[in-house]
Amino acid sequence: MKRLVILSGAGMSAESGIRTFRDMNGLWEEYDVMEVASIEAWNKNPELLIRFYNDRRKQMIESKPNNGHLLLAELEKSFDVQIITQNVDDLHERAGSTNVLHLHGELTKARSSIDPTLIYTLADPEMKMGDKCGKGSQLRPHIVWFGEEVPAMADAVPIVESSDYLCVIGTSLNVYPAAGLINYAPFSTPLFLIDPNPPASLPRRVQVISKGAGEGVAELIKRLETFQK
Ligand code: APR
Repeated sequence: MKRLVILSGAGMSAESGIRTFRDMNGLWEEYDVMEVASIEAWNKNPELLIRFYNDRRKQMIESKPNNGHLLLAELEKSFDVQIITQNVDDLHERAGSTNVLHLHGELTKARSSIDPTLIYTLADPEMKMGDKCGKGSQLRPHIVWFGEEVPAMADAVPIVESSDYLCVIGTSLNVYPAAGLINYAPFSTPLFLIDPNPPASLPRRVQVISKGAGEGVAELIKRLETFQK
């Protein structure tokens, strides 16, 4: 089967009711990103970050996968679909996608604040100060904050380099290194981008589908069919 690589961002989950970051009414309009999503903020005020991610985890639990997530899961019948997402929600997995790589962490998990290899799936969606890891340190959200490395890039780059088709869905391509992944696609790989307000700076050869994720993935499927004939 041909390998279809999806690079998804917050716009993928917008139609599920999860706020994006940089759109109108985006999360970073309400919060100062460096106060709630940076390693400095965690060191300064861990309670605030625990509350911030508890709220986002609650919203995720109350949301459900949208048509775009469901169509991508369905596509596994015809392609080797590999999803690389900047999103920390579990909507791709809940839609049925089986190959999902989270570049920026996962809301469903917590990790030790002294040993990053100690990662736990949260039984209780409400994290609290005083929740400890096996080595006795405070548990933190398993999220990649600004100022931290993105270890999953080591796995993401070879996946993009081996893509037969690649589609970017719902990301403003503002945040590196994730935004640079598109440049690792082989020159022979057809590139698509689904976004109602596509980012201005795109490689010339990208086929833009200026629609939301739900309708956009349906359009992508039609365009992929022309390659399959
Ligand atoms: N369908 C598809 N795309 C959409 C939709 C939709 N229904 N609604 C909005 N979008 C697009 C917007 O036009 C925008 O280009 O989704 C993109 C969202 O961009 P951002 O809010 O910047 O989100 P993202 O690119 O995922 O942010 C990257 O920044 O704060 C960090 O770690 C955080 O992973 C996040 C990273």
